[in-house]
Amino acid sequence: MTARLGSVSLVGAGPGDPELLTVRAVRRLEEAEVVLHDALVPNAVVEVATTAKRLCVGKRAGQPSCAQEEIVRLMIRLARQGRQVVRLKCGDPFVLGRGGEEAVALARAGIPCEVVPGVSAALAAPAAAGIPVTHRGLASAFVVVSGHAPEACGPVLASIEPATATLVVLMGLRSAGRIAALLMARGWQPDTPAAVVAAAWTAEQEVWAGTLEALGRSALPLGLPGTIIIGATAGFAQRRGSVAAQGQGGMTW
Ligand SMILES: C[S@@+](CC[C@H](N)C(=O)[O-])C[C@H]1O[C@@H](n2cnc3c(N)ncnc32)[C@H](O)[C@@H]1O
Repeated sequence: MTARLGSVSLVGAGPGDPELLTVRAVRRLEEAEVVLHDALVPNAVVEVATTAKRLCVGKRAGQPSCAQEEIVRLMIRLARQGRQVVRLKCGDPFVLGRGGEEAVALARAGIPCEVVPGVSAALAAPAAAGIPVTHRGLASAFVVVSGHAPEACGPVLASIEPATATLVVLMGLRSAGRIAALLMARGWQPDTPAAVVAAAWTAEQEVWAGTLEALGRSALPLGLPGTIIIGATAGFAQRRGSVAAQGQGGMTW
């Protein structure tokens, strides 16, 4: 008798608040036998999977983690054992999170795989600070880049006319100074509004608000996942100030 083949759901965990999981994500977590989650996914979200075996396979900047190939091998092995596997990735699985590579590897191995989109930090972090990324009259576009390697995002940032879009930078806290310098060298005004939203939608949420020039020389919360927002729309965070004291993350209008 041939063993039943399992499957893998690549599920977006959203920014960290279980209430921002999609209905389908909750269903997959409740039905899962094994959940392989990123380190950035808070316990409150992982624990939605009440009956599954839960394994942290993710990485946080600078800390040891499972190699990507290991994670893929583990997913394939578990699925071939007939398990219903959830690969739980922060935000949206296909936004700067290597979800595409995982989907391709699973398809090549003949493992049934689905994607459950999640609320990306690219939108959830600005929203948590009350920043409407395409506020009419201020920005009619927003551009999402990874700041992890400034040499990679540099050409994208350099190609955007100053003050024509809201820039949203993920994985950019350590490169904030270099990104600010690059933009100012390209003609962005030093007093362009800028904001950093760290650990959005969690109890640790912090909002920094200032200017592009100040962004480059400010102490940012490097121990937390943070998203940088640059452009006129980031001025909304300035007017609102820090919301860290609200505890639950998010804001009300
Ligand atoms: C590897 S990327 C993954 C992005 C994810 N796939 C998404 O769609 O949100 C991780 C980066 O997302 C951002 N991020 C994730 N969760 C966040 C949160 N709760 N608050 C602010 N930024 C967050 C940070 O820039 C972090 O370094």
